[in-house]
Amino acid sequence: MENGPERKVEGKREEKMKFCVTGATGYIGSWLVNTLLQRGYMVHATLRDPEKAAHLLSLWSGCDRLRLFKADLLNEGSFDEAVKGCNGVYHVAASMEFNVMATENIGNAPLNYFSITSIGMKSGAEMEVFDDSSLFELEEAYVQSNIIDPAIKGTLNLLKACLKSKTVERVVFTSSISTITAKDSLGRWRAVVDESCQTPIDHVWKMRAGGWVYVLSKLLTEEAAFQFAKENGIDLVSIITTTVGGPFITSSVPSSIRVLLSPITGEPEFFSILSAVNSRMGSLALVHIEDICNAHIFLMEQAKAEGRYICGVQSYQMSELINHVAKVYPCSNIQRLVEEECGSVPSEISSKKLNDLGFNYKYGLEDIIQQTINCCVDCGFLPRIRR
Ligand SMILES: NC(=O)c1ccc[n+]([C@@H]2O[C@H](COP(=O)([O-])OP(=O)(O)OC[C@H]3O[C@@H](n4cnc5c(N)ncnc54)[C@H](OP(=O)(O)O)[C@@H]3O)[C@@H](O)[C@H]2O)c1
Repeated sequence: MENGPERKVEGKREEKMKFCVTGATGYIGSWLVNTLLQRGYMVHATLRDPEKAAHLLSLWSGCDRLRLFKADLLNEGSFDEAVKGCNGVYHVAASMEFNVMATENIGNAPLNYFSITSIGMKSGAEMEVFDDSSLFELEEAYVQSNIIDPAIKGTLNLLKACLKSKTVERVVFTSSISTITAKDSLGRWRAVVDESCQTPIDHVWKMRAGGWVYVLSKLLTEEAAFQFAKENGIDLVSIITTTVGGPFITSSVPSSIRVLLSPITGEPEFFSILSAVNSRMGSLALVHIEDICNAHIFLMEQAKAEGRYICGVQSYQMSELINHVAKVYPCSNIQRLVEEECGSVPSEISSKKLNDLGFNYKYGLEDIIQQTINCCVDCGFLPRIRR
């Protein structure tokens, strides 16, 4: 795809390039919409709840080039209008359901025993419940029909809209580092982790570690998207996003920021996600919100881009990351968490494929942590500290 907001069409005036962004009310989506507008593109932004846009409309610049569309991945045909006439689609939206939990009311219908949690972890008591193999199978059936099937259907629904449009030249799919593991098939740590190190699906079903529902959903959705794209001649590129930090313009604090800051906020459900990533990867990779959005646009524009690209500026040992956070925001309970959770072998999570294509990062760890904390203090999520 050509660079720049405009392209010459033979015999016609110059046309502005138009891109659709799904999940425009989310952390990455809202920032990406703003970046595209700032670069002069026309943007079709999709959202589920128009009320959430009111706050963003006052922050996005260049709204005369913006159109909003109400669309839900779960509704067939929902994206047809939004995608119509677009040169490319950024598929950022995804359900952020992380786990299923057993609920109190079993009733007569066994599947009602489970509920989805946006963020959560199994307590010891729940682990005992799931020792029962029939409940384990029920949980599997519940996750398949309530989370995986709708997630896949939603992404295929969007890709079908792209096919119908006949104008979409590329789809950039926002994937996740949760689809990657640093352990090889024998459980040994790899020194370098690249795009080929995919988390085995059967392992996720078996282990059900913190955030496993999200991991499965991202893995299976991406797999289905590539399969559909291949069968239907869609140019699909995926960006394997590491933990995103930095400022945000959403009205609530994004999940990834709460995960990143969990060593200081002590929110156990978010800290369990951070720990699960660390134990799967042997280290934690971060990327600044501005860099991840620039990388999305870079991958849309680079003709040679194909397949999957890890995007993370660098990987850090959990203790190193926590030390950085503690330096910027000293608080009393941080050491306890370090002692409890550190001790894994660091792996290098490599962004070489993206770097080799010509992408450069603007921000490092210190900027990410500092800006994340500044934004959280400014919005009142973290109390101001006196030094
Ligand atoms: N942030 C990270 O660190 C990180 C890391 C790896 C991968 N990712 C990926 O990046 C993408 C965006 O994440 P984020 O951090 O920006 O999360 P987020 O702030 O929770 O945004 C998710 C977006 O998806 C939308 N959405 C959820 N279910 C939908 C549905 N059924 N139909 C239409 N839209 C739906 C949400 O809409 P509502 O606003 O209406 O809820 C929201 O706009 C996701 O694909 C995620 O897997 C993020």
